[in-house]
Amino acid sequence: MLQTRVDSGLDGVIVADTVMSEVDGEAGRLIVRGQAIEDLAGARGFEGVAALLWDGFAEGGGDETAVRQGLAQARVRAFAEVPKLLPAARGLTPVEGLRVGLGMLADSEPMPHHYLVCGALPVFLAALLRAAESKSALAPDPTLTTAQDLLRMIRGNRAEEAFEKALDTYLATVADHGFNASTFTARVVASTRAGLISSVLAALCALKGPLHGGAPGPVLDMFDEIGTPDRAEAWLDDAFASGTRLMGFGHRVYKKRDPRADVLKNTVATLPQTAGRLAFAVEVERSAIASLRKHKPKQRLETNVEYYTALLLEALEVPRSAFTALFAVGRAAGWCAHIFEQEKGGRLIRPQSTYVGPRPQ
Ligand code: ACO
Repeated sequence: MLQTRVDSGLDGVIVADTVMSEVDGEAGRLIVRGQAIEDLAGARGFEGVAALLWDGFAEGGGDETAVRQGLAQARVRAFAEVPKLLPAARGLTPVEGLRVGLGMLADSEPMPHHYLVCGALPVFLAALLRAAESKSALAPDPTLTTAQDLLRMIRGNRAEEAFEKALDTYLATVADHGFNASTFTARVVASTRAGLISSVLAALCALKGPLHGGAPGPVLDMFDEIGTPDRAEAWLDDAFASGTRLMGFGHRVYKKRDPRADVLKNTVATLPQTAGRLAFAVEVERSAIASLRKHKPKQRLETNVEYYTALLLEALEVPRSAFTALFAVGRAAGWCAHIFEQEKGGRLIRPQSTYVGPRPQ
């Protein structure tokens, strides 16, 4: 049997064909089902992008209205699980709480599972955030979109339109991104035919790490430590001296700036009272890129999506402990799409390893 050795990080290895999205690292371009992310995210919103991703694969695919209704019904259904979730998730971080919540959903649930998980995540997240402030969970409003309802369920009342639109753009922007670690995880689990809920739960666990979806909270920690732009250079030199990675920079595939960074940067600029913070972030980014060029001249390290995600979610007053969980709300649409695609045509994913341990005498 032909055996091929590849890098342990699977760099540059192509393992499947997909119609979902293309990450062109050399061009700094992301295409989701035929459309550039810059044209898609703000124009279609989360339900529109989910409908596009699921087109041809799942109930409601291609029909934004059906997806909006399906997700609204799922939010209402998921709310019934909240009384069980909250005591089980006490003391956990929001993303750990989502892990518990997804684990409570039964494979025998009659509602289509892509709606169920994508409806449950925002309901669970809002309930977990309110519980952390000793506030009772608010029931979903099925007349609203996911973004509108999520902000309302977190805050207790409807947010200004600009904030709802910004969250909608964020969820749409992060909905899918090629074979990233969490999506690949979802496909590995789906390839065993374990089902959509288990595959999404596994993906959530992969997303949680600081090298993947856990980066934006630490971006704000970095801003706090830097304090003012004139201190950025000294802080960055210290960071490199101590081997600290700059959160919100670098990417396995992008060798140019991540196009999602600019979608989110432009979205932050639409929000009231963000000009000062945005100017600070732009200054720190400029210094960080200069430092990366100085300290890692061989690497082509650029700004990634998490940098301006941090700024956007901060402007929406989402606690930084919940950033990764919010990322999961958006990315779940892409996970589901990839799970369907995997189940439709994919084989069991089962690579091999080289045994380097001792052998029996
Ligand atoms: N800051 C400083 N140095 C970095 C950074 C960074 N952000 N990213 C990579 N490097 C350096 C590494 O130290 C290493 O240097 P060396 O060769 O001198 O030892 C070199 O670049 C290669 O690093 P790898 O870890 O092999 O590169 P990889 O492709 O695996 O890294 C990753 C990709 C994990 C995203 C990395 O760039 C990183 O850790 N970034 C910070 C965390 C982050 O922002 N994650 C979010 C990514 S976007 C997303 O998942 C949604």
